[in-house]
Amino acid sequence: MRLVTEVGPGRRAGAPLGMPDPGGPEEVPAADAGPEEGMADRIDAGLLERVDRYVEELLVPADAALDEGLREAAAAGLPDIAVSPNQGKLLHLLARLVRPTRILEVGTLGGYSTAWLARALEPGGRLVTLELEPHHAAVARRNLARAGLDGRVEVRVGPAVATLRAMAAAGEGPFDVVFIDADKQTYPEYLDLALALSRPGAVILADNVIRGGRVLDASSRDPQVQGVRRFNARLAAHPRLDSIILPILRDQLDGVSISLVRA
Ligand code: SAH
Ligand code: DHB
Ligand code: MG
Repeated sequence: MRLVTEVGPGRRAGAPLGMPDPGGPEEVPAADAGPEEGMADRIDAGLLERVDRYVEELLVPADAALDEGLREAAAAGLPDIAVSPNQGKLLHLLARLVRPTRILEVGTLGGYSTAWLARALEPGGRLVTLELEPHHAAVARRNLARAGLDGRVEVRVGPAVATLRAMAAAGEGPFDVVFIDADKQTYPEYLDLALALSRPGAVILADNVIRGGRVLDASSRDPQVQGVRRFNARLAAHPRLDSIILPILRDQLDGVSISLVRA
């Protein structure tokens, strides 16, 4: 956990998160003042972490199968980049609002977010999750079986763009919920393919759309940051989507996008 997270200037620049704005409008920096100008906000990550833990202890009880899945994924050498328990619960609740019978996930890893989403399925519903790495897929299949979800979830191995194109060509779907969480440079393409596979009224969710605030840097040469920036801009401009980004606390400040597909 980083102790201090810097974000760029905004309407509330100068005010630590959750604290009253210390000054009047005269203390708000010019709109073009960047972090280099020394006006970065300081967010107390210790407080954010305690609040996140409070919410988790209150509302996200430990789950033996899911927790064991995280341990198994770590033991199998998978990176520690699954969504947090609180974010898993958020994804689960957002999905349940749609009463989904078909869910699509792009980026399985060890199946942690997959399990949260699959538990949102209506009786008889199915989830398809796409994963590039056969080793990740194998770990996920074991974890999903342990959670009793193997009958409802199919893990498909391969580069997700090719799989998604094949699914569209085969007339698969439409899906009620899509969760995008694979390689960040390909997010814009995943959005187009997700839309092609979604029904009107579907919800499209995406992880990692803030990345510690690095998405604020238009001149970033990081292809992942640029991919997410293009994805976010596309959400904002898309005539068929109504969207918001919810900042969320992970190892760093990150965010999940929520988009409703219009009729
Ligand atoms: N959704 C998971 C985390 C996914 S991490 C969770 O929260 O539990 C991102 C995953 O995307 C990794 O497993 C990685 O192997 C996979 N990935 C990366 N590039 C991909 C691609 N081109 N196609 C499909 N999966 C990909
Ligand atoms: C990374 C990928 C993720 O999906 C995530 O949630 C965190 C980190 C990564 O590739 O570093
Ligand atoms: Mg992610």
